[in-house]
Amino acid sequence: MHPDMEKILFSKVEIDEKVHELGNILSRDYVGKELLMVGILKGASVFLADLVRAMDIDVRIDFIAVSSYGTSSKSTGVVRILKDLDKSIELRHVLIVEDIVDTGLTLNYLLEILKARNPASVRICTLLDKPSRRGVNVPVDYNGFAIPDEFVVGYGLDYNEKYRHLPEIYVLKKEIYQYSK
Ligand code: IMP
Repeated sequence: MHPDMEKILFSKVEIDEKVHELGNILSRDYVGKELLMVGILKGASVFLADLVRAMDIDVRIDFIAVSSYGTSSKSTGVVRILKDLDKSIELRHVLIVEDIVDTGLTLNYLLEILKARNPASVRICTLLDKPSRRGVNVPVDYNGFAIPDEFVVGYGLDYNEKYRHLPEIYVLKKEIYQYSK
């Protein structure tokens, strides 16, 4: 195990099973519809890449990059778009794909921005959810795993841009994020 990790939370096999489960549900729910899957950069890129390959309907993909104002530990819920979608989403069925929902503030704001662009529908799919941290009532339609309030990395998730490449999901050792800033 990587020396910065406290423990493994989800193995490659557990992630793979969950991604396939979600892929099957999404393929069923969106059959006959033109689905645009919107990955939130950078964290959701790994999940999105696996998720689309676990689906058996035609999908399109796009990415959006946002930064939330405030410090890294306190999200204000006001989001700045760093990279917008390439194309209009008007009258499209949009699925926002996120790595983790924490307070929900970022996603809630993004949801309002995308809804204002008049899509046919917009739903949210996240791999991880920390329900105990929720500050706003953001409607998560598809959720992989509910997890406790611990800082997790790997499978796209980072701390200071590190650990995204790890194939499993880990709980990061507290001393790494308490003293390394
Ligand atoms: P929210 O606005 O508080 O829901 O912030 C969600 C964002 O915070 C996610 O997209 C992640 O980038 C980041 N985040 C929250 N919890 C974790 C974690 O445990 N590990 C890595 N990133 C996290």
